[in-house]
Amino acid sequence: MAQSYKSYHTWSASVRWFHWINVLCILGLIFVGLVMLNKKSLGITGLDAKIGLKELHIIIGYIFASNLFIRLMMAFIGPASARFSAFLPQKGFKESLKNYKTSIKAGTTQQFIGHNPIGRLAVTALFSLLIILAASGLFRAGTDIYFPPFGGAIASYLAEQGTDPSTILPYNDTGVNTDKKATLKVYKSPIGKIHLYSAYLLMLLIIIHIAAVVRAEVKEGDNLVSSMISGKKIMSKTPEDA
Ligand code: HEM
Repeated sequence: MAQSYKSYHTWSASVRWFHWINVLCILGLIFVGLVMLNKKSLGITGLDAKIGLKELHIIIGYIFASNLFIRLMMAFIGPASARFSAFLPQKGFKESLKNYKTSIKAGTTQQFIGHNPIGRLAVTALFSLLIILAASGLFRAGTDIYFPPFGGAIASYLAEQGTDPSTILPYNDTGVNTDKKATLKVYKSPIGKIHLYSAYLLMLLIIIHIAAVVRAEVKEGDNLVSSMISGKKIMSKTPEDA
């Protein structure tokens, strides 16, 4: 018997724009981040080049952080598919996760207009990591090269009495109070580590995310990839969240 398919509106245009801008920014941030990490082996040794790479990473970081900020605002005031309720685990989540896993094992995988329960866990973890990366990155942008939004306050804190904070330069101790620099390092180093390990964890989650989306597309007929472009999902079963 011929199977009947029905088309459902899923992701709003705002969610789709966020998603693809986010993908581009993250690719750029990972690329420049990896160059920064491996600069010695790539033969990049000069201070100007080191600062230039950081500036480039931070400029992409501003686009990334602004896009993320707008997305989080949309989770409060945006369309239904952008709200927190569309991706955070909701009441009865354990039960729906169990039912979803059972349906996969039975070969009758449930379909969803929005995220399936495992997708909700993945998106919650991804958003948490992105927020940690944005916050730690913005802090390090301030401590390392005195860039906004925290750079002005950090330069004012570090400047010796009588020194104009706007005259102190990255990686140059002229006019810098060394005791205060040491105090700042107590925060700067662990926050740098959090940033780095969150980036590694994000890379791992991205690989899992892509593998899961491809698997859903191939095995379950959920057109997840094209739905993030068209905003429509075409399904053969009645979705659980219809
Ligand atoms: C998905 C988001 C991001 C990823 C995957 C990422 C990745 C990385 C990586 C791999 C490094 C190299 C770590 C190191 O040199 O120790 C790094 C460093 C850095 N990132 Fe990001 N980053 C992200 C977002 C941001 C944002 C939003 C900003 C600020 C606007 C930022 C600012 C910095 C700074 C200042 C450093 C240098 C820290 C250091 O030298 O230890 N990052 N990032």
